[in-house]
Amino acid sequence: MRELCVIGGDGIGPEVTDAALAVLQEVVDVRVVRAEGGYGCFERCGEAMPAATLDQLRACGAGLFGATASPSRKVAGYRSAVLSLRQELDLYASLRPVYSLPGVSSRADVDLLVVRENTEGLYVGREHSDGETAVAERQITRAASTRIGALALRLAAERRNKLTIVHKANVLPLTCGLFRDSVRAEAGAFPEVVVEELLVDVAALALAERPQSFDVIVTTNLFGDILSDLACHWMGGLGLAPSLNFGEGIAVAEPVHGTAPDIVGRGLANPCAAILSAAMLLRYHWDMTEAAARIEAAVRSTLQRIPVAAGTQALLASVLADVRQGQFVARR
Ligand code: IPM
Ligand code: MN
Repeated sequence: MRELCVIGGDGIGPEVTDAALAVLQEVVDVRVVRAEGGYGCFERCGEAMPAATLDQLRACGAGLFGATASPSRKVAGYRSAVLSLRQELDLYASLRPVYSLPGVSSRADVDLLVVRENTEGLYVGREHSDGETAVAERQITRAASTRIGALALRLAAERRNKLTIVHKANVLPLTCGLFRDSVRAEAGAFPEVVVEELLVDVAALALAERPQSFDVIVTTNLFGDILSDLACHWMGGLGLAPSLNFGEGIAVAEPVHGTAPDIVGRGLANPCAAILSAAMLLRYHWDMTEAAARIEAAVRSTLQRIPVAAGTQALLASVLADVRQGQFVARR
């Protein structure tokens, strides 16, 4: 039987992961293991991502993570739960799809996928400062860039055969240049995929002006972080945006949104991003495309009928009913 390690995390994390789990269990038999992680876990036990949780995730090969609070000032001994998760388990890609949804999206023609490099770039955490000058190292390796490039090309070949490499090689010719060239070097194996490149500032404007023109975007860690938030505006905002941290034989689903401290425990959290993230586990990791499509269709038909403000249980009940009925709504 498939195994899934569920880490609710902080804030609304436990509420939305419970909902997503209920939906997942409609379509797949899965043995669930619960584990701890997040800022609250750090306060309780001194570690945001305990070794025991990482071991459980490795043993299961699949995870569902809710949300984590992340302080924007240095806290002694603290390392972000999600960043540890991504680095320790070598979850080298963050797959962040953005597609129009009924009822919540301001346009109906968007269907793109941001493939974000998830282990290096400015996220290696090597910052130093003497108080007057602060420096952050940005690590780009040929190995990581090649790996993410090959994945993005493969995914583009399964979609609409278009890949946009986003970088800033005019200012960062060594790091961004290596990234761009490494991705391009993989393109020969995918002759059907049209590869273009955009500078990150130009890409931001293009995502605002003509989001429908994108298929797959591949980019470095921080650019992917920023651009995926920008792009998910077209989906209906962060409350709807799913993601999958993807590695070799292991993947962890994680809604892009945060902990929403103002609504914790009030039954108001929108579980759709977590549910759609769980569907990504099925689609990309367990190769259960039909089950994934069934869940995605159920979220679509729910959003057609029910406002997201209806609350967690109302949305969940509707998605569950639609999954059971196997109601399909065409994707575009
Ligand atoms: C995300 C988040 C994280 C990131 C934070 C919480 C460290 O913004 O998953 O996009 O920057 O990657
Ligand atoms: Mn982010």
